[in-house]
Amino acid sequence: PMKQRLLVVANRLPVSAVRRGEDSWFLEISAGGLVSALLGVKDVDARWIGWAGVNVPDEVGQRALTKALAEKRCIPVFLDEEIVHLYYNGYCNNMLWPLFHYLGLPQEDRLATTRSFQSQFDAYKRANQMFADVVNKHYQEGDVVWCHDYHLMFLPKCLKEHNSKMKVGWFLHTPFPSSEIHRTLPSRSELLRSVLAADLVGFHTYDYARHFVSACTRILGLEGTPEGVEDQGRLTRVAAFPIGIDADRFKRALDLPAVKEHINELTKRFAGRKVMLGVDRLDMIKGIPQKILAFEKFLEENSAWRDKVVLLQIAVPTRTDVPEYQKLTSQVHEIVGRINGRFGTLTAVPIHHLDRSLDFHALCALYAVLVIVFALLFYVALVTSLRDGMNLVSYEFVACQGEKKGVLILSEFAGAAQSLGAGALLVNPWNIAEVSASIGYALNMSPDEREKRHRHNYAHVTTHTAQDWAETFGFNATLTESVESTGR
Ligand code: UDP
Ligand code: G6P
Repeated sequence: PMKQRLLVVANRLPVSAVRRGEDSWFLEISAGGLVSALLGVKDVDARWIGWAGVNVPDEVGQRALTKALAEKRCIPVFLDEEIVHLYYNGYCNNMLWPLFHYLGLPQEDRLATTRSFQSQFDAYKRANQMFADVVNKHYQEGDVVWCHDYHLMFLPKCLKEHNSKMKVGWFLHTPFPSSEIHRTLPSRSELLRSVLAADLVGFHTYDYARHFVSACTRILGLEGTPEGVEDQGRLTRVAAFPIGIDADRFKRALDLPAVKEHINELTKRFAGRKVMLGVDRLDMIKGIPQKILAFEKFLEENSAWRDKVVLLQIAVPTRTDVPEYQKLTSQVHEIVGRINGRFGTLTAVPIHHLDRSLDFHALCALYAVLVIVFALLFYVALVTSLRDGMNLVSYEFVACQGEKKGVLILSEFAGAAQSLGAGALLVNPWNIAEVSASIGYALNMSPDEREKRHRHNYAHVTTHTAQDWAETFGFNATLTESVESTGR
């Protein structure tokens, strides 16, 4: 257990706020892998600093929200509408996110994005400084500060400029792309330099770490060493720290009466069918259209399976103000509608697609349902990310498999493919024929082979937990002083 006081800084707080009145707020758990992983870390003395996902222009509201968040050990950073538009919707989610996932910019937006680049990047820096100001206000000597993700690449520099003694770690939850991709960013050097201000820089996989180091050597002309990157005698340590989940939390949930009730309901609902499950934020990196098209191909070529299998796709709404996400939503709806029209009968449809935005209770129910679905109706989980930093959904699916031991079909472009590769069926999500064939293979897999594959995955997921991640990353972050003196 770590006694060290910790400041966790991420754009997204573990709870997002919904306004209920002038001074009353409702807090709901935020979605996404970053929050899930960090919520799985126990025994730390941590405070969270971040954005509550809502614009609060008035002082009464800010004061009330600050108070409500304090009970969750959260400290808000207030961002106004314009900053959110330029920094979060613009630079983070329309520029860095697609680039880091090798998706490029959408054709028709390419020029517009290039034009708005400067104003978005300025807002990005301003936003990072606003996070830094809040950190500085709450920092006590000896604290370790963990900065998270692509939203806050400027933060290590802001913090170190203010206080060079502060211990600062930065962890990226997405892939870090090949230096050839990073090179195309107008702000390529500034971003690298500010990240390098941290003492420790962490990634999910060795490949991402290697890409980062080559970007620093090729773009900045710095020296890469086995420990990291060196700049005029100062070493920034760079390493891979693959994240995990709190597997016990999922195992415990399976025993709750409410969860068992849901299990019964769902078992009745889908009786006689094998369920293929997808759980993703409705994001272009998740390859949802590709997954659905692969499922269509499977139905096309395997008429005997048509009334025996159902695809249950849970698509959590996300970043809904970004036009690219809005386009994806209608694209997915269109494909689902077409396929259900084509293969549906009077009483059943092949695809159940959920993408409503949910209130807190519905979200809890959905979450409970997820757990059960994982456990019982199993059969196959389909993770077809075109790129994904790690992908915790695949870990959660594995953790929740009971007796029946479902099969995991997993994209080779998810970070998780490096850890679950031996147990999962790895696929190239762009190759619809391959994914469709894997669906067939999974549905026909012998119990022996399922058991063997599952055992492999399960051993990994239960021994590489969020807690282990926090301990190694944290341990390395606190070591910085001795490293700096030995690094020379
Ligand atoms: N999740 C959630 N709310 C939901 C459905 C899923 O918070 O309604 C969680 C899910 O359990 C998982 C996380 O969101 O822990 C998704 O993490 P992942 O690493 O798979 O992808 P990301 O969303 O971070 O890209
Ligand atoms: C990914 C990112 C996280 C982010 C999450 C949800 O996991 O790595 O930083 O919090 O997606 O996205 P959102 O934009 O809603 O925070």
